[in-house]
Amino acid sequence: MLKTHTCGELRAKHVGQEVTLAGWVNRRRDHGGLIFIDLRDREGITQVVASPELSAEAHATASQVRGEHVLRIQGLVRRRPAGLENPDMAAGDIEVVANSVDILNPAETPPFYINRDDEVDDSLRLRYRYLDLRRRRMQRNLILRHKVVKFIRDYLDEKGFVEIETPILIKSTPEGARDYVVPSRVHPGKFYALPQSPQQLKQLLMVAGFEKYFQIARCFRDEDLRADRQTEFTQLDVEMSFVDREDVLQLTEGLFTALVESLSAETGKSLTYKPFPRLSYREAMDRYGSDKPDLRFDLPLIDLSDLVAESEFRVFRQAVAEGGQVKALRVPGCADYSRRQLDELEEFVRKHGAKGLIWLSVEAGLSLRSPVARFLSQAEMEGILARVEAEGGDLILVVADQPDVVAEALGNLRLEMGQRLGLRDDNLLAFAWVLEFPLLEWSEEDGRWNAMHHPFTSAMDEDLPLLETEPGKVRAKAYDVVCNGWEIGGGSIRIHRRDLQERMFRVLGLSEAEVQAQFGHLLEAFEYGAPPHGGIAPGIDRLVMLLAGEHNIREVMAFPKTQRAEDLTFGAPSPISEQQLAELRLRLVDDEP
Ligand code: AMO
Ligand code: AMP
Repeated sequence: MLKTHTCGELRAKHVGQEVTLAGWVNRRRDHGGLIFIDLRDREGITQVVASPELSAEAHATASQVRGEHVLRIQGLVRRRPAGLENPDMAAGDIEVVANSVDILNPAETPPFYINRDDEVDDSLRLRYRYLDLRRRRMQRNLILRHKVVKFIRDYLDEKGFVEIETPILIKSTPEGARDYVVPSRVHPGKFYALPQSPQQLKQLLMVAGFEKYFQIARCFRDEDLRADRQTEFTQLDVEMSFVDREDVLQLTEGLFTALVESLSAETGKSLTYKPFPRLSYREAMDRYGSDKPDLRFDLPLIDLSDLVAESEFRVFRQAVAEGGQVKALRVPGCADYSRRQLDELEEFVRKHGAKGLIWLSVEAGLSLRSPVARFLSQAEMEGILARVEAEGGDLILVVADQPDVVAEALGNLRLEMGQRLGLRDDNLLAFAWVLEFPLLEWSEEDGRWNAMHHPFTSAMDEDLPLLETEPGKVRAKAYDVVCNGWEIGGGSIRIHRRDLQERMFRVLGLSEAEVQAQFGHLLEAFEYGAPPHGGIAPGIDRLVMLLAGEHNIREVMAFPKTQRAEDLTFGAPSPISEQQLAELRLRLVDDEP
């Protein structure tokens, strides 16, 4: 090694030792006579002093160095003079007096500060990702990610799971996004698809008898990117044979609990619930307006529909008459919101699809102040106050609309108010299970039923008879693990019999020929003794994001893509050469609109 110690490890006990350090110049200060260099590597920062009396040569070199130059320094560890210790630095009690300073490589002035946590434009960060990753926060995040993955591997190994790699070049595996496709040179006109997840492969591994499989698996989905979505991301893919839902939930919950607790000293994060609470999909939607509720706080959505169905206030009456709902949030301590603040909230729910927002302020003595007060009867007002269990100082916020609009608008308003009330502490991780998802959802666009999770998910036994007659009512043996308003993972108990899988494909409107072409291999495998099986796939990126206290999975990925799916460091995607196109027998069609 070019160094004897890291820049993070020297302490008072090293005083008097000759050491060699190597790293980057975090900061240089020239105090006329003495030059101070904060030398940085992955492990920390150590102060180096170059004095003209001790080594004129070292001092002369030190006077030339600038930020981010790569240096190698030899010197003597000494205690800092009394009163000059730096309690903010781990190595703040000592400094290294340089005998020699070598510039291993100079550096251009970076496009942003490496040594500060300033906000930097995202595209600049991604363009110079290697510099961005040199910053403390990103180093910490990626090292945390390493620890998370190592913990998971050790934990599952201990429980008898085998990690098996599955191919990246395969055939379309529907998970609800578009496929990335790769043209085949050997088979012109034919394409591989990159896996949206290893779903069918892990099911085949169950048929193969591996019983307990996992993989830290890369997945590829061509979909619109958001804070919690990238085009390629990593799942902890898990599948188990001879299990029911409870086994998968217990395994996952045990893993997450042990993971969070083992890292809590480092992350400062702790679990809100042990065991994780369980909600049905219906309960989650009704109470929180979301299938991934943030359970760090309650603030439930309260149904007022029956109380105002006959109201003189047209907005309420009409919504109920049209099969909609009138629902409220009771927000403590906000009764004195100003006109401007209330307008802001109305604008907020409009952005989430609502037509408007009604507010009622609960004054001391439980009298109501509201622009609609004069349209509400005494009985209605009393009913509302009782239903929401109002107290003086509450602000009651009401949206009337179709159930999906109410859920979307009030569910998001709930999060917004939770934020404003300071109830969303990032040091708390409120994991929960959402169970009993619908098996199918109607697609207006396609004019048919789609699998809500994926087509290999089995129905709850008691609902199976409804599969053809009332598909919308069938609940699935599917589950999501959620945390702080994010969906962390999803899974299900699978269909393992050919007849049932074929029945499912028929309900999804696939023809025999389509089924054969797309899923023939899986159906065939089911005829050779497929065991009952099920699994789950938590997103590693989302999990690490929560543990790192970040709000975008980009912050825990080394080389993520932009909103528009570009890699700004490499400049991908990029054109390929005429020769490559010709080899693949591809021709670009120029059909500019
Ligand atoms: P699903 O599609 O629900 O299930 O994905 C499981 C988990 O993967 C993560 N995830 C993503 N993370 C980042 N960017 C994305 N674009 C993205 N898409 C999904 C989420 C999500 O909860 N094969 C099934 C799992 C199973 O049934 O076992 C599947 O992929 O954390
Ligand atoms: P309008 O009848 O559109 O003038 O709206 C009168 C008031 O009712 C305004 O404060 C709107 O924000 C509110 N409002 C209108 N539609 C709804 C709705 N569907 N749910 C809640 N408030 C509404």
